[in-house]
Amino acid sequence: MQLLLGAGTALAVSVTAALVAQAARRGTPAAAKQPPAASQQSAGYVGEQTCLTCHGEMTRGYHGSAHGQAANPRTPRANNGCESCHGPGAAHVEDPAKPESIKRFPTMKPRDVSETCLTCHTRGAHTQWKGSMHDARNLSCITCHSVHDHKSEKALLKTATVIDTCATCHRAETAKLQRSGHMPLREGKMDCASCHNPHGTTNARMLRAGNWINETCVSCHAEKRGPFLWDHAPVREACNTCHDPHGSNNDRMLVAKLPMLCQRCHIGTRHPSTIYDGNQLNARSNRLVGRGCVNCHSQIHGSNSPAGSTFLR
Ligand code: HEC
Ligand code: HEC
Ligand code: HEC
Ligand code: HEC
Ligand code: HEC
Ligand code: HEC
Ligand code: HEC
Ligand code: HEC
Ligand code: HEC
Ligand code: HEC
Repeated sequence: MQLLLGAGTALAVSVTAALVAQAARRGTPAAAKQPPAASQQSAGYVGEQTCLTCHGEMTRGYHGSAHGQAANPRTPRANNGCESCHGPGAAHVEDPAKPESIKRFPTMKPRDVSETCLTCHTRGAHTQWKGSMHDARNLSCITCHSVHDHKSEKALLKTATVIDTCATCHRAETAKLQRSGHMPLREGKMDCASCHNPHGTTNARMLRAGNWINETCVSCHAEKRGPFLWDHAPVREACNTCHDPHGSNNDRMLVAKLPMLCQRCHIGTRHPSTIYDGNQLNARSNRLVGRGCVNCHSQIHGSNSPAGSTFLR
């Protein structure tokens, strides 16, 4: 303590700490005078001002952020300040060298870190965290977020952008963004979190919207929602049967080039369906038509035309 402080401050601090500890033991009004937050209202809180006498620089990343908004009654600032996260600090102030005297997040078990943040972040996008793939794989809130040293403009991320955050682990998906067919992530109009909620969801693969893959896709591509008068079975089943959502070197992010994509399933149609069929000069030969099958079967996602059973219109 003497290393950090002038003797006067040290005295003030230990006096405060002693008073708080004493008050807590007796349950006198000095303890009750601590900030509200009824559930956390128990022994051992010293208040943010006391922490700052020794850790003056730790307003860093905190006071200017959403957590520092004193006017929002749900923020740490409006509740127990530093101790909303770090836990009651009286024991720490008395003996800072004792490692267990205060929560040191980077040394804690991932579950315990997340538990602390979840005391407040239980709503909206965070209700599915427990049991999510990221929780199960021992990520914690501070794997991606930093309270004091964040680099992003929003959401307190440790990296400048959402994509950079995901890229630290998911290289395969991120690398696909560089392929010629991709949604506008590279261009900054979307990011991984447009489709995924990294805090867990009720959908497969932590997809944000709905309860099956297609519902996420049609949350933006509403015209593909269906049901159509004539549904194309694989489209009803899963968009990613034909599209790679992360990017592909084929047109329209298709998982295979046309007409091979269609021929994965349609090998025996009445007109020549494979490029090796004998009837190459038939007007319907896909060899004669630039984009193969979908030049004619243009309503490939489904048709509402009474005569659309083969998706020609
Ligand atoms: C009397 C001075 C003093 C006060 C008051 C004080 N601390 Fe500390 N704190 C220290 C010292 C000294 C250390 C370093 C101890 C060590 O590393 O063994 C420390 C370490 C810490 C650490 C761990 C830092 C690390 O690098 O792992 C945290 C977190 C912390 N304090 C938070 C708080 C909070 C929150 C409060 C208010 C409740 C508080 N401190 C009040 C002196 C103080
Ligand atoms: C919203 C929760 C939260 C609040 C509020 C908060 N901290 Fe922290 N603190 C953390 C987390 C999480 C870490 C681990 C590193 C990080 O995420 O930036 C940390 C790290 C620290 C460290 C050690 C790392 C370092 O950079 O030296 C100290 C010391 C510390 N906090 C003190 C404080 C003090 C003092 C306050 C109040 C002025 C405070 N913290 C407010 C969550 C919080
Ligand atoms: C005392 C309650 C409380 C605790 C504890 C708490 N937060 Fe928050 N946090 C808030 C409030 C309130 C906001 C403001 C947004 C809102 O109203 O939901 C916020 C906002 C955030 C944001 C969004 C910031 C932005 O600029 O968009 C992130 C990220 C965040 N918290 C992460 C954490 C992490 C990580 C922890 C644990 C280390 C944590 N919080 C602990 C109350 C808390
Ligand atoms: C795998 C990385 C990752 C983990 C782990 C993670 N987050 Fe996030 N978090 C993000 C990203 C990316 C965003 C911004 C995109 C968005 O809005 O979903 C975000 C946004 C937030 C926000 C602000 C926007 C909102 O959804 O309200 C809060 C608050 C937040 N996270 C809290 C938490 C808490 C609490 C935990 C731990 C239980 C946690 N995060 C774990 C990546 C992560
Ligand atoms: C610290 C590493 C790490 C970071 C950062 C990270 N993840 Fe993960 N993620 C994992 C691990 C580990 C798994 C488990 C599956 C695996 O091994 O790929 C996983 C699984 C997933 C899954 C599959 C879930 C399932 O149910 O099968 C999705 C989707 C995902 N992450 C999206 C994201 C997104 C989006 C981001 C960025 C916001 C992100 N992850 C950041 C480590 C990480
Ligand atoms: C357009 C929506 C969309 C976007 C944007 C998106 N994903 Fe996905 N992601 C999906 C769908 C759908 C799946 C499940 C089907 C699949 O695996 O192809 C998935 C699966 C995953 C998986 C699990 C893969 C596996 O095989 O288990 C990971 C990890 C993942 N995405 C990470 C990311 C990352 C990182 C980004 C940002 C670079 C991202 N995603 C952007 C829709 C998207
Ligand atoms: C958050 C909104 C959003 C979601 C969710 C979404 N997309 Fe997209 N998608 C877009 C935007 C924006 C474009 C670019 C549109 C344009 O350029 O006109 C696009 C373009 C496409 C394209 C055309 C790409 C090209 O090369 O022309 C395909 C195919 C596509 N999306 C499929 C999907 C699939 C499959 C899913 C579900 C896994 C999905 N999208 C989810 C917004 C979204
Ligand atoms: C049977 C394969 C197949 C399935 C399944 C499929 N698509 Fe497509 N999709 C295609 C083909 C082929 C094209 C290119 C059409 C063209 O170039 O005329 C395409 C083009 C697109 C385009 C860009 C052009 C346009 O029509 O807007 C979007 C967006 C798209 N698909 C979204 C989706 C969504 C969303 C789903 C799931 C509901 C889905 N696709 C399922 C084969 C499929
Ligand atoms: C994943 C397998 C799959 C893929 C890929 C696929 N389809 Fe289909 N398609 C089906 C199934 C299953 C049916 C329904 C067959 C039935 O009802 O007898 C169908 C039906 C059709 C029909 C209507 C058939 C009829 O008798 O009414 C046409 C036309 C068609 N598909 C064209 C295409 C084209 C063109 C492509 C490529 C863009 C394609 N399909 C890709 C599985 C697939
Ligand atoms: C030049 C236009 C044209 C092209 C190119 C074309 N089709 Fe067709 N296709 C048709 C017409 C017209 C019908 C309806 C025939 C009928 O009703 O007798 C049809 C019928 C079908 C049917 C349903 C009837 C059957 O034969 O089983 C399937 C499946 C089909 N096409 C798949 C394909 C695939 C796969 C490709 C690409 C390899 C393709 N088509 C390319 C015009 C075309």
